[in-house]
Amino acid sequence: MSETTGLIDALSRLQADLALLVGAEAVERYRADATRRPGPEPVAVARPRTTADLAALLAFCTARRQLVAVQGGLTGLAGGARPQAGELPISLERMRSLSEPDLLSMSVEAGAGVTLEALQARAAAAGLMFGVDIGARGTATIGGMIATNAGGIRVLRHGMFRAQVLGLEAVLSDGRVLTSMRGLQKDNSGYDLKQLMIGSEGTLGIVTRARLRLLPKPRHERNALCAVGSVDAALQLMRRLREHLGSDLSACEAIWPDVYAGVVALRGGSAPLATGHALYLLVESQSFRHEEDDLFETALGEAYEAGLCQDVVLSQSGRDFTALWEIRDGCTDYTASLGGMTGHDVSLPPDAMANFLDEAGAIVRRIDPAARICVFGHLGDGNLHYVVKSQHMPLLSPEIFACAAGLGGAVTAEHGVGSDKRAHLPLVRSPVELAVMRSIKHGLDPYGILNRGRILPEPSP
Ligand code: LAC
Ligand code: ZN
Repeated sequence: MSETTGLIDALSRLQADLALLVGAEAVERYRADATRRPGPEPVAVARPRTTADLAALLAFCTARRQLVAVQGGLTGLAGGARPQAGELPISLERMRSLSEPDLLSMSVEAGAGVTLEALQARAAAAGLMFGVDIGARGTATIGGMIATNAGGIRVLRHGMFRAQVLGLEAVLSDGRVLTSMRGLQKDNSGYDLKQLMIGSEGTLGIVTRARLRLLPKPRHERNALCAVGSVDAALQLMRRLREHLGSDLSACEAIWPDVYAGVVALRGGSAPLATGHALYLLVESQSFRHEEDDLFETALGEAYEAGLCQDVVLSQSGRDFTALWEIRDGCTDYTASLGGMTGHDVSLPPDAMANFLDEAGAIVRRIDPAARICVFGHLGDGNLHYVVKSQHMPLLSPEIFACAAGLGGAVTAEHGVGSDKRAHLPLVRSPVELAVMRSIKHGLDPYGILNRGRILPEPSP
């Protein structure tokens, strides 16, 4: 019996409902994340629906030293969920239970396979909102977003995914179930193990469900697109808006001119602001005040009078509001449409962003004058998506990451390390930090079956 048939037979005999998929056609969808670079064709894909079935599967995998690739909605951009040779992908897509929101604790319980969009709709139906939003909301799942500590467009106001998790359940590599679902606002009873799981990219355990914080739905939401002259002017504009609006300022997103022109062309129709400005800033206010609309409008008007922006278009209706957000959401569609682009999801201190753009631009021009650069991102969080197309990426990427690290930044802000960025981790994590990470990994997954080759760099020889 071949190893392949052996594994499929053994999985079929397991007392667990795994909705196993076998055969090239069935497994094709599970070969790549949103980088669109497929891994080798897996032998099978397991899709447990319950925690107990996943626990049985992981106990089996540990006993057999079977490597697994953990998969959510496959919208990741770092190769975390892309299967590697010999791995059995485990998709959490069938774990779709979603509770009614609890109005007193303002929370909801969601299975790992629930999409962000489904969660947002459930919250909205109860007059509430969820604090994290990302462009891939229709496909990205709660389990994957917890595993990668997703960020997105409202981190400025509501924090990253870890700030939304009140309780969590995960299955460990040997099949034991780690349940921290009390969901208390305050609970200092020892190490916060759920926080350890969040952002561990499937290397320490597989998240099955979580209790998530919901927020009151703001009375007013309004956004505006501003044309600004530089990154520093954009930061001044953001500071000014914050002074006026306080924490109502809920998003501050930047789009560089080539990407703006590309998105507008890709979408068709008219552009809300003329192309050709130095930088476009999409700002949003979420407010509980009744006079909010005036406040947002006044703040933008004053910023304009003060010369902090050259032009502004303010949403006047729900339709305008959505149309402006669609431009921002279209940035990844546009860069993906160019084909063969490599993203650098860098994090920078605010005062280093302009320097990074100058220095990284010089690096790219020196190594490959023909390279194409697209930039957009979450200016309010110091998170730039610096996307490059070049024949020389193996030379370029390490220098771009070193540049960000040298300016006090990080090699990934929100997309995670996965398999694609792990070689760059030593730029931003000390030998002691890496050693502690390795001992945690070894303690929880002694045979290294969970998402091997993700996050932690190859140990030096
Ligand atoms: C975004 C994704 C790429 O910000 O993180 O659109
Ligand atoms: Zn982003």
